[in-house]
Amino acid sequence: MSDDSGASRRAAMYGADDLSSMTIFSGNFINFGYWQDFTPGLISVDERTESQANLYRAVLRRLTIGPTDVVLEVGCGIAVGAALTLREFGPRAVHGLDLSQDQIDRATRVNADLVAHQPDRFVLRQGSALELPYAGEKFDKCYSVEAAQHFEDLGAFASEAHRVLKPGGRLAVTTFFTPYPAAVDELRRLIETIDSGVDVVLPIGSFRDDLLRRGFVDVRVENIGEHVWRGFDSWMEQTEFRDSWGRNWLKAYNCGLIDYYLITADKR
Ligand SMILES: C[S@@+](CC[C@H](N)C(=O)[O-])C[C@H]1O[C@@H](n2cnc3c(N)ncnc32)[C@H](O)[C@@H]1O
Repeated sequence: MSDDSGASRRAAMYGADDLSSMTIFSGNFINFGYWQDFTPGLISVDERTESQANLYRAVLRRLTIGPTDVVLEVGCGIAVGAALTLREFGPRAVHGLDLSQDQIDRATRVNADLVAHQPDRFVLRQGSALELPYAGEKFDKCYSVEAAQHFEDLGAFASEAHRVLKPGGRLAVTTFFTPYPAAVDELRRLIETIDSGVDVVLPIGSFRDDLLRRGFVDVRVENIGEHVWRGFDSWMEQTEFRDSWGRNWLKAYNCGLIDYYLITADKR
């Protein structure tokens, strides 16, 4: 019997199917992107790649990374974002974690130079956000970019992130949530990956509560949808997915059913 659960579909997407190879994405990134001042018009592949790097920069700027910091990325994908962190923000080390061994293998190939020449500063590992394979109080900063929509228990992730952060450490997470619980049924009708369980979309308030319950303080929630959805939809329009359900992300945003968020939280 075939297993059609969200988890098995995610395993295929990030495994043999290699989502990063779809024209929706580029530059080995797999995220919707961040456009500071989006203006309609033709988007080049380089601009699309830059939008995805910019989503990383938006997150990393909120972490105030210093030269002695040891940083963890959860759901690093092909780790081009983790490499950007090392290159542009200069921490002592970046650790990239991903559930998919195929993604970690791709990350190792794509970043072969860093893996070979800076093995103490650029460390990749397979493992789950729900059970982080690290000792407690190891990291100064922890972040996650467009991966938390796949974490099946955000309370467990909040708890694990809190455990591995040093006192005074900071967490930053960016991805999509719904502003209010009743929207989930309507979102299922519009978005195939939500309906199938690939994306587990929760109310933003429940993640904020998870973070507070697990001991985080100064939890801040920013809506960044105006910098994400229109740019992403314009790019979709240029691809062979222009007539697909994927255009419903922008519709859902325009109807107030979904938004893209950047959440930061501190460990006392
Ligand atoms: C949409 S991709 C984003 C990758 C990367 N952050 C980027 O922006 O290019 C989501 C990634 O999260 C990973 N992932 C999904 N569930 C996970 C989990 N429970 N723990 C760790 N990683 C997970 C997937 O394997 C995938 O590589």
